[in-house]
Amino acid sequence: MTETETARPLVLVVAGHVDHGKSTLIGRLLHDSGALAEGRIEAVRAMCARRGMPLEYAFLLDALRAERDQGVTIDTARVRFRTARRAYTIVDAPGHREFVRNMVSGAAQAAAAVLVVDAVEGMREQSRRHGYLLRLLGIGQVAVAVNKMDLAGYDRARFEAVAADARAYLRGIGIEAAAVVPVSARAGEGLLGPSGAMPWHGGPSLADALDAFAPPAPPTDLPLRLPVQDVYKFDERRIVAGRIESGRLAVGDTLVFSPTDRTARVASIESWNAPAPVLSAGAGQCVGIVLDEPVFVERGHLAAPPDAPPSEASAFGARLFWLGRAPLRAGRRYTMKLATAACPVEVRSIESVIDTDDLSRAPGDEIPRNGVGEVVLRARATVALDDFAANPRTGRFVLVDGYDTVAGGIVSMAGHLDRRAGPARVSRNIARVEHRVDRAARARANGHAGAILWLTGLSGAGKSTLAIELERRLFARGYQAYVLDGDNLRFGLSSDLGFAPADRAENIRRVGEVARLFAEAGFVVAAAFVSPYRADRDRARAIAPEAFHEVYVKADLAVCESRDPKGLYARARRGEIPDFTGVSAPYEEPADPELALDTGALSVAEAVDRLVRYVAAHFGEPGAGGRQGAPPPVPRRP
Ligand code: ADX
Repeated sequence: MTETETARPLVLVVAGHVDHGKSTLIGRLLHDSGALAEGRIEAVRAMCARRGMPLEYAFLLDALRAERDQGVTIDTARVRFRTARRAYTIVDAPGHREFVRNMVSGAAQAAAAVLVVDAVEGMREQSRRHGYLLRLLGIGQVAVAVNKMDLAGYDRARFEAVAADARAYLRGIGIEAAAVVPVSARAGEGLLGPSGAMPWHGGPSLADALDAFAPPAPPTDLPLRLPVQDVYKFDERRIVAGRIESGRLAVGDTLVFSPTDRTARVASIESWNAPAPVLSAGAGQCVGIVLDEPVFVERGHLAAPPDAPPSEASAFGARLFWLGRAPLRAGRRYTMKLATAACPVEVRSIESVIDTDDLSRAPGDEIPRNGVGEVVLRARATVALDDFAANPRTGRFVLVDGYDTVAGGIVSMAGHLDRRAGPARVSRNIARVEHRVDRAARARANGHAGAILWLTGLSGAGKSTLAIELERRLFARGYQAYVLDGDNLRFGLSSDLGFAPADRAENIRRVGEVARLFAEAGFVVAAAFVSPYRADRDRARAIAPEAFHEVYVKADLAVCESRDPKGLYARARRGEIPDFTGVSAPYEEPADPELALDTGALSVAEAVDRLVRYVAAHFGEPGAGGRQGAPPPVPRRP
């Protein structure tokens, strides 16, 4: 199941103002390079003659588009031609929308672009927008065709003025034009060879400029990014399939899957028709891999090396090209598609609106159609992504509204919390000491194993109530049991932390570590924490995977809010408590909890009964009798 990208034609995109001659240029390139089927040009010529007009090459493209729209031919979404040196595919994108969708979805990973600018009109707003869009989408190889030189009298000074303007604009957005070429698409000047009409032009023809573009190099030197396309069940095996966007992968490699942070090793790379077993694969290849462990993986997850994983965030910055009919405003919700993942996002704020004319930034409440701006997006769940500068393939996305692509954008993590940035700062100068009392010995003495029941849920769902009652009941039956409670720990261990996502991540990390210590000491720990972010809980689980059991203490927001035991919801609604879970901060429901208790439907006694039974069934029970009636143990001084 491997397929390479090599030896494909160079994919080109032609951008520019609608009236500056894109279609004529493409039509003429196809014609002059001999790419057109027999009879095509004659048909267009005849049509033009009937209308009493000279041959119009743009009609050629119109005809191709019309056929495509009617589904008459299959091969016209992309038009192909060859120069003496190599083959090209032009992504024909009549409008912004198609252009952005093609580019961002990766359907057409263009390696290079031609920006067409009218010699008479010069750079117009749309030329600049398209230039900006190229930059936004990471197309760094751009040639400028200064077109309609015939209408400008093949005037060298005019060409040079437009060329200087185009170069300066592109430079301003970080693109060094590979070449600026004077052409007349209609007259066929300057396209495939030196132009007789412009002997003063010492530079390349358009074809020469294209031939000088570097062939697309799949980014094998970046860290591995394998977005999971699908997981297939195949006899006993599960095959995780996807296209490697960057980096390499080999049998035996450990992969971390984001945003679940589960790890597993590549046991094999499946291949159907390779003569020998496939041991490695690289960017651009589609692979199916089998893992050595049955970790939970699904479409949308992103596989990466553990030492160079993508960022994980639920809020992040983005630079957007807005295509929607109505202006973009804060508060709107869309589906974000990034690599193979699709997730709901909300536009939290519009940070600035960028004027693509002079590239200035200004504050603003809305981004107009075809405008560009910087926004903050918040996803309902944790998303795995990369800063665009770190990895363009997993650093860009589209926003979809129903079936409509309404924006293309690139990710900026600057100033946003990467939830992955966590511990891993362990000194080298430390070594573990071995206990002489092991876990099994403690479990024998206690009559039960140590464990962590991680109670997560909204504030007011009943976590603390259940935990405290569970502790009492277990203790009475002879268990070593202890509650770690969110409010309590925030008076001490976490007194330096607030409720921003980074603070919660650190709170949950600390609690996860403490819970592990208690579990190792043989206790059944009831940990009652809102812990609203899935990634945080997953990390707590990873600290003590064999002891950790997630219990979703479930109650509707409306129910919690009506209970409002501490009056916090009322205050949060009045805007007095920022980042309040359920009101102004998200709660990410557990995807697959070990136990779920609906406190809207169950009484406290019923819910605790279930917890007690769960504990007995999974961790054992102390011998009969327990502590009932026995005096509480008196702490002794040494
Ligand atoms: S957690 O998100 O880091 O897990 P934790 O469980 O420690 O939160 O603390 C939550 C408790 O703090 C809640 O029970 C509530 O009483 C209180 N609290 C105060 N501010 C907030 C807030 N912004 N969001 C949620 N809980 C809050």
